[in-house]
This record gives sequence, C-alpha cells and structure tokens, in this order.
Amino acid sequence: MLEVRLAGIELGNPTMLASGILGTSAASLIRVARAGAGAVVAKSVGLSPREGHRNPTVIEVEQGVLNAVGLSNPGVEEFAEELRQATSAGVPVVASVYGFRAGEYAEVARRISGAGVAAVELNLSCPNVEKVGALFGADEDLAFEVVREVKRAVSLPVFAKLTANAGDIVAIAKACEEGGADAITAINTVKAMAIDTRAKAPVLGNEVGGLSGPCIKPIALRCVYEIAREVSIPVIGCGGIATGEDAVEFLLAGARAVQIGTAVLSRGVSVFRKVSLEIKEYLEERGYESVEEIVGLALRC
Ligand SMILES: Cc1cc2nc3c(=O)[nH]c(=O)nc-3n(C[C@H](O)[C@H](O)[C@H](O)COP(=O)(O)O)c2cc1C
Repeated sequence: MLEVRLAGIELGNPTMLASGILGTSAASLIRVARAGAGAVVAKSVGLSPREGHRNPTVIEVEQGVLNAVGLSNPGVEEFAEELRQATSAGVPVVASVYGFRAGEYAEVARRISGAGVAAVELNLSCPNVEKVGALFGADEDLAFEVVREVKRAVSLPVFAKLTANAGDIVAIAKACEEGGADAITAINTVKAMAIDTRAKAPVLGNEVGGLSGPCIKPIALRCVYEIAREVSIPVIGCGGIATGEDAVEFLLAGARAVQIGTAVLSRGVSVFRKVSLEIKEYLEERGYESVEEIVGLALRC
C-alpha cells in the first residue's frame, strides 16, 4: 500500500531522509534506513574536502532551525567509500552532490556513481564561480547546464533539488526537466538570519543561513504544488514535514515522495515509521489502496 515508484526506483514507503541530516556516514544512513525510511539521501559532497563555516552553524529559532553549515564534507574520494558501505542498508541510497561549476557537479557525480547508489541528487543551492553571485538553482541556464552535464556523465536517475530563493522556481524546474532531470526535489532551506540583541550582531558565524522546519512548510508546499502542475517528472516534497498529515498535504499537492530533515533532529529517527503509519491510516480510512492514488488530487490544473 505504501510502495511508490520514483524515477524507476522502488521505495517501500514514500518517506526519505533529507540531505545533510544524519547522512554523513554509512553507519548513520543505515540507522535511518533501519528506522523505516523508504530511501536515504546522504550529505552533499563536493570534489574536495571542505571545512565549512565558523560556529555557530546550527541554531534553533521559532518553529524551525537556522543553519549555515557551509557544505562541510570530506570530499568525494573519501565519501564514496561511506556510500558504498551504506548500500547494504536495504533501502535505496541517494548521493547528493554540489559544485561551483557545471563540470564539477558532473565530475563528482561520475566518481560517486561507482559506489552503488540508486540516484544522484543535485544540490543546486550553490553559487556559480563564473557568474558571480548567481546560484545554480536561481538561474534557468545554469540549472539546465548542470543537469545536462550530469546526465551526460552518469547513467543513474538524477534529481534536481531546488531552492525557493529562486525568483521563479517553476521556470527552474522546467529548465531542469528539459536538461534531462528524472525528478525534482523541492525545497532546500530558505535564506534567513537571526540577530543577537545583546551582542547586537548576527547569531550565525556566517551571518546568514538557511531556515528549515515547520515554519517553511507552507512555502515548500506552494512550490511543490506549482511545480507539479507544470512538469511531468516526479516531484519530491521537502520542507517542514513532521507528521503523516504534513506528508499527505505534499502528496495531494503532487509529490510522489517526501523528504524529512529537521523533524529527524527534533523527533528522532522514529519519525519515519510514524509518518508512514499515519499516511497508511489516512489511506485506509478513505478506502484508498495505494499512495499513488492520492498523488496530485489537490491540483487544479
Ligand atoms: C543542518 C542542516 C544541514 C543541511 N545540509 C544539506 C546538504 O548538505 N545538502 C542539501 O541539499 N540540503 C541540506 N539541508 C537541507 C535539507 O535537506 C532540507 O532541504 C531542508 O532542511 C528542508 O527540509 P526540513 O524542513 O524537513 O528540514 C540541510 C538542512 C539542515 C537543517
């Protein structure tokens, strides 16, 4: 009843671990898989090791979390081995890659594709070094180019993870579909900040960061709804999902699967089984036989 098919990948249930939360090692990915996630997305990895931003990097705010981790990661060579081990988890493992040039994304994806992962997710919330200040995920041409380069480099399904910080997220989603993306993940964190009134200074070491958790759910839902109306590839919802009711909202808005991030920090890994169970109850109470039957029911085209 809970099984879904996503870009050719079979998921036992529609819940997935979002990138950057507990996805930094094989052990933590396996732990989440055993806790009931339908698939797990690893922490974003780049070509070379990166330390990330100064502390504090993660703080709690009202109804959410603000982070500026700064893509800290051990680099693709070292991380490929963790991913290889994580594939024994028994659920599909998705690698998340970032780069500062389109070719860099493709190179990281190529190197990670040998690790036995089921798909590659592109973290497009990354600045481009050649078009200074432009995020890949906020520029149609850049987003198209990255997806096309990665599709040329690997034969795996490619998910394009978008940001609501783009002016027109639907146009970006369409550009990614045109570039050959197999699915769209929406959304990454929303650009935000906090000020310490006593210190009269920004709280995060990096000054600004990304907001996640319940406070961004309505934004994420709107993005999924608008994207699902305009593309024919599957959409994966992400942003503030903590309950089965939240997940069902995303499914009705057109998502085929949902990723959970901040709620894993606040509620623990049991959130996956709980969300799955609550989706199942929703379906059973209304006489549906599968998750796929409710995907997009709220869409008004
Ligand atoms: C501490 C932290 C680290 C994150 N790291 C990544 C990352 O490396 N790559 C990525 O694509 N998204 C990253 N994200 C974003 C999440 O995957 C997710 O898109 C976002 O938090 C919204 O979902 P949520 O409200 O369920 O957390 C991170 C989020 C948090 C809170």
